[in-house]
Amino acid sequence: MKTVTTFQELQNTLVELNRPLGFVPTMGYLHEGHLSLVRVAKEQNESVVVSIFTNPTQFAQGEDLENYPKDIDRDLELLGNEGTDLVWLPSTGDMFPEGYQTWVDVSELTGLLEGRFRPTLFRGVTTVVAKLFNALRPERAYFGQKDAQQAAVIKQMVRDLNYPIDIVVCPIIREEDGLAMSSRNIYLTDSERKAALCLSRGLDAAEKAYIVGERKSDNLREIIRLEIELEKIARIQYISCAHPETLEELNGDVVSCLLSLAIFVGTTRLIDNIQLPIKG
Ligand code: PAJ
Repeated sequence: MKTVTTFQELQNTLVELNRPLGFVPTMGYLHEGHLSLVRVAKEQNESVVVSIFTNPTQFAQGEDLENYPKDIDRDLELLGNEGTDLVWLPSTGDMFPEGYQTWVDVSELTGLLEGRFRPTLFRGVTTVVAKLFNALRPERAYFGQKDAQQAAVIKQMVRDLNYPIDIVVCPIIREEDGLAMSSRNIYLTDSERKAALCLSRGLDAAEKAYIVGERKSDNLREIIRLEIELEKIARIQYISCAHPETLEELNGDVVSCLLSLAIFVGTTRLIDNIQLPIKG
């Protein structure tokens, strides 16, 4: 497995890789969720490139950029074990040098859900992903359903900017007890870790209700709210029942929907979601 840092090194190494090329962008501190993307990319392509870059432009003031967990040696070992061909570790100075001023901004989708509470998040995400795509020109790129809105925003960007790239969205990988894997779970204390199960419990309860015929969007949101409120240290930021593609909030009876939520457990902000009906 090769590792490169600069754009020039990347270009020199890219010509040696067989196509099609599958690309997995990450911010590092890898877990089974990230590795599941690498495995699917490996199955579907001749070569796999992973980037690790804790993108400062997608963190707002006061968010966890400085504390964002990091363990590059461990990440490289895990990626090596998966048969990754190339790891790109761009520097912040190369990505966003002094005087940087060009941004990629998807307009409507980014104003909803996460975007209401993190208004600068997606501009940072789409800009960095566009730069990564431009440098790598992969045939396919892999994103997790864990960040359902991010996947939708990237698909929109790819459509709007005519990138010849297939966006593959992979299922959420969870711990055995249901907690969705996230690099940020490391912030949780033992008691917070237990309380954090209210996210998946809420979604499970809503799914069970849906399976036995509940279709009212208000009731689905309410079922989740009641589960979250059982945890004293959990604070709801939003609970949404939205159209799975437009992400517009739904009212009345729903056929299919994306149930998603953002919850503070202590000071850690966690997100999770489920799409109903479950596919497959
Ligand atoms: P990061 O949070 O490191 O996540 C990288 C990819 O892994 C994303 O596509 C995310 O949805 C996916 N992922 C994370 N946890 C997952 C889980 N439990 N199951 C399945 N997939 C999971 O998302 C980012 O980085 C950044 O915004 C990035 C796209 C790299 C741009 O900076």
